Amino acid sequence: MAELTLPKNSRVTAGTTHKAAPGATRVKNFQVYRWNPDDAGNPHTDTYEIDLDQCGPMVLDALIKIKNEIDPTLTFRRSCREGICGSCAMNIDGTNTLACLKPIDEVKADVKINPLPHMAVVKDLVPDLTQAYAQYRSIEPWLQSETPAPPDGERLQSIEERADIDGLWECILCFCCTTSCPSYWWNGDRYLGPAVLMAAYRWIADSRDENTGKRLDALEDPFKLYRCHTIMNCTQTCPKGLNPAKAIGKIKQLMVERQG
Ligand code: SF4
Ligand code: SF4
Ligand code: FES
Repeated sequence: MAELTLPKNSRVTAGTTHKAAPGATRVKNFQVYRWNPDDAGNPHTDTYEIDLDQCGPMVLDALIKIKNEIDPTLTFRRSCREGICGSCAMNIDGTNTLACLKPIDEVKADVKINPLPHMAVVKDLVPDLTQAYAQYRSIEPWLQSETPAPPDGERLQSIEERADIDGLWECILCFCCTTSCPSYWWNGDRYLGPAVLMAAYRWIADSRDENTGKRLDALEDPFKLYRCHTIMNCTQTCPKGLNPAKAIGKIKQLMVERQG
């Protein structure tokens, strides 16, 4: 990826207000963070007045309406619009969440939309996830086994073994948790953060994986794992209702058990 040009100044100033069409019946303001690396300007907030009677129910519907009908320069990621792909993660009304799962009606005042916090911004609502994906790659998120798979079938698990990875495999790697974590804000270059640590535990907990010891060895590090101080922001913000703090606790517990 090309080197990022970061905003000159982190101070966000007021931008343009795009008025609703005459005759709009139910207007709500959407205050959206804007920053374009090509115009050399500071970040600013543009306000878009949207007629909710002409818009779908979710915040992503409003962003798509803005881009299609008002301001095609607005940039954000989205794909599935079903809470599956994780691409529309952003900070809405002060909380990291998925725009496609966030009902507009849940926000009582103006809808304030910012990129995921403490990440470099590529443009507008698009954070640079290069480091987060490199950290994900570092935990080798695939099944590792010396035992060959049965020639005529799948690697089987008992019902109990399969249940051990429930609450882990559902992660969609949206990084809402990681970007809500104060430890990641300050040490994100070395601390892996809750999303990646939960992904690591997903393979540690999988009965079919035979590299548990190697995986734990790789995490035995004062920064990669132990920067988690159980502040729990991660679990509180997860839009899929998962519990990365619990998964991190399980890794720490395994570390203790293997020493004893
Ligand atoms: S529990 Fe750990 S990973 Fe989660 S927010 Fe707190 S410090 Fe970060
Ligand atoms: S644990 Fe939740 S918030 Fe974190 S990346 Fe996975 S789905 Fe997103
Ligand atoms: S668009 Fe895929 S999770 Fe929101």
